[in-house]
Amino acid sequence: MIGRLNHVAIAVPDLDAAAEQYRSALGAVVGPPQDEPDHGVTVIFIELPNTKIELLYPLGDDSPIKGFLEKNPSGGIHHVCYEVEDILAARDKLKESGARVLGTGEPKIGAHGKPVLFLHPKDFQGTLVELEQV
Ligand code: CO
Repeated sequence: MIGRLNHVAIAVPDLDAAAEQYRSALGAVVGPPQDEPDHGVTVIFIELPNTKIELLYPLGDDSPIKGFLEKNPSGGIHHVCYEVEDILAARDKLKESGARVLGTGEPKIGAHGKPVLFLHPKDFQGTLVELEQV
């Protein structure tokens, strides 16, 4: 069921500084900031040869990233995103296995314009998992 690693998301306290570090120190291809009001984040995607890094910064007062940055003031890995071919079939199979889907349980449109879901970190070795239909 699980496909490629689509991205690793890193919450950062300073989006410009993080983008500049990936650009100049690591020599990465860094995209423009994109506001995602439905998800309460501003994101920057960094293209790597085999996957992407998603830099996350809070957008709005009830951003889900805000609390994470309070607990991790210097930033940290926030989630990993795996590709699936059929997100509803994947969701149903995971729910049957006891995994909890966050939010309403219905896919939202993610940063790439594709349906995404998040799975509870307590059900996945302490890691927040995003599924993206590709
Ligand atoms: Co993501």
